[in-house]
Amino acid sequence: MPLRLAINGYGRIGRCFLRALHESPFRERYRVVAINEPADLASIAYLTRFDSTHGRFPGKVETTADGLVIDGEPVTVTHADSPEAVDWAAMNLDVVVECSGRYGRRLELERFLKAGAPRVLLSHPGHGAEDVDATVVYGVNHEALSGAERIVSNASCTTNAAVPVLAVLDEAFGLEHALLTTLHSAMNDQPLIDGYHHADLRRTRSAMQSIIPVSTGLARGIERLLPKLAGRIEAKAVRVPTHNVSAIDIALTTRRDVGVEAVNRVLREAAETRFPGLLAWSDDPHASIDFNHDPHSAIVDTSQTRASGTRLASVLLWFDNEWGFASRMVDTLHHWQARRRARPTPD
Ligand SMILES: NC(=O)c1ccc[n+]([C@@H]2O[C@H](COP(=O)([O-])OP(=O)(O)OC[C@H]3O[C@@H](n4cnc5c(N)ncnc54)[C@H](OP(=O)(O)O)[C@@H]3O)[C@@H](O)[C@H]2O)c1
Repeated sequence: MPLRLAINGYGRIGRCFLRALHESPFRERYRVVAINEPADLASIAYLTRFDSTHGRFPGKVETTADGLVIDGEPVTVTHADSPEAVDWAAMNLDVVVECSGRYGRRLELERFLKAGAPRVLLSHPGHGAEDVDATVVYGVNHEALSGAERIVSNASCTTNAAVPVLAVLDEAFGLEHALLTTLHSAMNDQPLIDGYHHADLRRTRSAMQSIIPVSTGLARGIERLLPKLAGRIEAKAVRVPTHNVSAIDIALTTRRDVGVEAVNRVLREAAETRFPGLLAWSDDPHASIDFNHDPHSAIVDTSQTRASGTRLASVLLWFDNEWGFASRMVDTLHHWQARRRARPTPD
């Protein structure tokens, strides 16, 4: 029997998750049976069918009185703004895939469990490591999942991109310090033209007119996955006026000698042998749009690797912040649920 999923928050990542699952080899093993999203049903159906970034949905999407029918499978749609307002228990679910970004603390996330959702997969890091049972960067630590977890975070798109690369560079060269700068495409928490934002003055500014520095939890997110680097990582993030695909520039100092060729060699090897399908590399003369709908967590642009002296280097990564991340959510979900079902007495 396919496992039963619900998506809470059907925005960019919620819809990308549905599509990534639809395009994945595990597609037959899962069914999205419910979506909870404040928007009206007609808009939900429309934005399932048409997407300016990822194109038309490769399947049939129909509307009924209370939901969608996707390729013949019914999906109940609710419009609640709190976990308690949805009868998750009645849906006989395996996992709620939480993509609203509105619930970060354990007490908030446990509201889903109390309301009848057996497990929650989060599309962001949560507030802190202690707020979730596990934080997964697929390819780096997914093997640590036991299957008994109730709340699992898929970390962030930037953490998924940076952690495999930092792990490899640390092993090869002994990482002393690293500074990361994310150049991130615009998101739905920014207005198209200037408008009010409840918490952040920078997010009042038109996403399409400016390069806008914003806050980021990337450094702390990396430390959560690679605790031995704690206190040696810092990061800043800049939103840029593109609709999708982002980049991270990593500058790092090392304990052992480092150079352009050596960095590219270890990262090419890691892409081909240790992280196939997750990390890739290219030395073509790229622009960011080349990676739209690319499922990798990161692509190392080896043409942009630089070194200064013998202990300072920088690396440029590209990543589809939507599709790469949604693809990892599918991978993490699949591994987690396989572990759960393999337990002697599955929950
Ligand atoms: N976009 C990315 O590149 C990316 C990548 C990785 C991770 N993430 C993370 O994923 C989360 C979602 O990001 P997103 O870009 O998908 O945002 P988004 O496009 O704004 O989608 C969030 C959706 O959730 C809805 N929502 C709000 N409150 C809700 C509630 N209480 N219950 C159910 N749905 C609710 C929103 O409706 P309203 O618009 O009406 O509020 C919106 O439709 C964030 O935590 C983000 O950091 C995003």
